[in-house]
Amino acid sequence: MKIFYVVYSLSLLLGLICVIIVIAWNTCYRGGFAWDGTAKMFNWHPLCMVSWFVLYGNAILVYRLPFTWSSSKMILKLVHAILNLGALTLAVIGLLAAFGFHNKMHIPNLYSIHSWVGFAVVILFSLQWLLGFLSFLLPCAPLWLRAAYKDVHVFFGIFFLTMTIAACLSGINEKLIFVLNGANSSVPYKELPPEAYLANVLGILLLCFFLSVTWMLYKREWKRPNPHTSVLSEATEPLLSEH
Ligand code: HEM
Repeated sequence: MKIFYVVYSLSLLLGLICVIIVIAWNTCYRGGFAWDGTAKMFNWHPLCMVSWFVLYGNAILVYRLPFTWSSSKMILKLVHAILNLGALTLAVIGLLAAFGFHNKMHIPNLYSIHSWVGFAVVILFSLQWLLGFLSFLLPCAPLWLRAAYKDVHVFFGIFFLTMTIAACLSGINEKLIFVLNGANSSVPYKELPPEAYLANVLGILLLCFFLSVTWMLYKREWKRPNPHTSVLSEATEPLLSEH
């Protein structure tokens, strides 16, 4: 468990540093934040999307934290759902910032691979939240449905996190190409000005955060112990408990 806590602390630190870097990038190099249809409004987009990614990663880890294992499963499910709802709210604000800026500046919507992957993952994440709520939190949901849906929910939770890091990295790259290769830039992207350096480091740290989260999910010995496994046969176990 010591190693778990080291990796977990590292992931918390990485997440925090990523959010600080994205604020610093947009404050120092992109003019700061406003909600007025200008480029300053767009700056909410990377901030909200990176924060969404970090919160989403932490929401997934709720069941892995050893100090939560004595809590009831219902409390853990509620915390997981609330954190993911907070993450979804950030994603929606981030999308509104990007669409608002594009519409005000008469820039076409949804033309890049970044926007396709990004838009798709926000829609899919919302559906996953809704299905999770209906299956795991509604008391009337049948047990067979919970058992059948659980593995699908876990698989797609990790897959959507992977889509989110893909959207973040492609978004950072696209933004750097737009602003550093544009007419207002004195040093092009290929000469690696300090802004590009900072944003590239942000991308690498996001990747390290993703690695730490997926590593904690992958390690079987760091999973929340199932109270029934010691007394029930392997065959019946998946249908019981954990839901
Ligand atoms: C989970 C993360 C992200 C998602 C889901 C996402 C989603 C989107 C979507 C749907 C659009 C299209 C808006 C429109 O067509 O009006 C967009 C645009 C854009 N995003 Fe992101 N984004 C994410 C992260 C980022 C990050 C971290 C940056 C870094 C600066 C970024 C930079 C951009 C840029 C430059 C555009 C405008 C060009 C375009 O439409 O491709 N995005 N994003």
